[in-house]
Order: sequence, then C-alpha cells, then structure tokens
Amino acid sequence: MYSEKVMDHFQNPRNVGEIEGASGVGTVGNAKCGDIMRIYLDIDDETRVIKDCKFKTFGCGAAVATSSMATELVIGKTIEEAMKVTNKAVMEALDGLPPVKVHCSLLAEEAIHSALWDYAEKKGIQIEGLEKPKSDISEHEEDEEY
Ligand code: FES
Repeated sequence: MYSEKVMDHFQNPRNVGEIEGASGVGTVGNAKCGDIMRIYLDIDDETRVIKDCKFKTFGCGAAVATSSMATELVIGKTIEEAMKVTNKAVMEALDGLPPVKVHCSLLAEEAIHSALWDYAEKKGIQIEGLEKPKSDISEHEEDEEY
C-alpha cells in the first residue's frame, strides 16, 4: 500500500525536532482527523536560503513521512524555490501516496507556508505567491484539487 520511501521516512523521519530562535514557525492542523504539524525554519536573511528546517508532527504515518520529506526538500533552497515545494512535489518525491492519504501531504505544504508567513511578518517583507495560511486545512479541503 505504501511505497518503500514512505515507509522509510515514517520509520526514520529526518529533521525531527525544534529550532531554537527559528526565523519562522508554522503550525497547521486538520480538525477532521485531529493531526497537527509544526515546521521550524532557519533562514539566512541575506541570501534568503533555508539553512535548516525541523518538524514536529502529531499525526498519522503519512503525515510524518510527508513532513520528513518536505523538510529535506526545502533545506538548501531559497524562499522562492521552497514555495514550489507543493504537496504534489512531496508526494512525487515519496513515490506516491494512497488516494485516501493524499490530504495528509497538504499539511506539510501548508505548514511550510505558515512558517514562511511567520518569517515574512517578522521581517516586514512580502513573499511572492504566499497567501495567508490556514491554521485548519480541513475547512478548505473541498476546494483543493487532488
Ligand atoms: Fe490526518 Fe493523515 S490522517 S494527516
């Protein structure tokens, strides 16, 4: 049912934890399943490169695997490149998710956006294409294209 990569990232999640004094922190939940994900970003203000990213997820295995993969995908990228790390990109990197678990990958995308939003607010900057993130993604689930 799950790809080897999903199982690997679920059993050995990368970048679990917190970043003290993080540049941006984002927390997103899904009230329908009760899962919550928090993402911490350490961003170089000059180069706008994400130097480090950590996560904490209270959620299902697919949510853990997608957060783990999402952290790996954004580390070393600029903010603009990280904006392209969509839930589809995360799923592709994991060799797919079963259809009923696709919504779990949305938590990762939204939590990254939420952490970037926090950073932008602190710095008083704007990030192109970034919209105010939702704290509960289940409210808008119907609008999402899977
Ligand atoms: Fe809630 Fe997977 S079931 S994120």
